[in-house]
Amino acid sequence: MHNIDKERLPQHIAIIMDGNGRWAKEKGQDRLYGHFHGVESVRNIVEGCAELGVKYLTLYAFSTENWDRPQQEVTGLMELLVDTIRKEVPVLNKNNIKLHVIGDVNMLPAYARQELQEALDETKTNTGLNLVMALSYSSRWELVNAVKAIAQDVKDDKLQPQEINQDTLQSYLTTSAFPDPELMIRTSGEYRISNFLLYQLAYAELYFTNTRWPDFRKENLYEAIQDFQNRERRFGKTSEQVKA
Ligand code: IPE
Ligand code: IPE
Ligand code: MG
Repeated sequence: MHNIDKERLPQHIAIIMDGNGRWAKEKGQDRLYGHFHGVESVRNIVEGCAELGVKYLTLYAFSTENWDRPQQEVTGLMELLVDTIRKEVPVLNKNNIKLHVIGDVNMLPAYARQELQEALDETKTNTGLNLVMALSYSSRWELVNAVKAIAQDVKDDKLQPQEINQDTLQSYLTTSAFPDPELMIRTSGEYRISNFLLYQLAYAELYFTNTRWPDFRKENLYEAIQDFQNRERRFGKTSEQVKA
């Protein structure tokens, strides 16, 4: 932690929390056991980000494609979600953390939607870390919706096609209120994006680690941030231009 330059923190970190299932299987346990232990990592990393002063943390918890998993796993994950939210809201409030959700929440069972809505309401005045949960989220789902909404506004004469620019598109995304992630971490040794924030990650620094999500702790987060701070972000320019 001492090796982190607090002046150059990524203001938005996004994490693909992967490897729960394999972690559990390696221990001879059911996949749900891995998800259950993954919650401990979520707690630890949320706390770590809040302590450091990171402004936005987006966690990929459940993708649109994850609905196709075995029914028993999906149900278990929904129950874990509701249970965790219920338990964690007081902690979020104590730490001034504001919860946000991105994704197709209409796909969630009613009891989960309700629990989620209460958590959003109860944390909405907090001003510290913005914790964005990507639930039933996928980037292609998000982009299709954005295009639909833009088309509708053009049809209704609220928007002219020639006015559409990058800011317009950004404003139709579910992440319109957040800056783009500067650092994207994926655990468990997979090197792919899996339909996560495809547009928003355009210039994010990507960090991959073999550590499975249930083993990921603050120390691992600090390592990722240090790695980020040692990189030169050029945004298409030359190294000389960036240094000047
Ligand atoms: C990530 O862990 C959690 C979710 C996708 C819900 P996985 O469940 O994908 O674990 P692995 O990748 O099968 O090990
Ligand atoms: C991505 O992990 C989704 C989440 C972590 C929530 P997956 O485990 O679903 O991704 P793939 O299938 O390995 O690409
Ligand atoms: Mg996985």
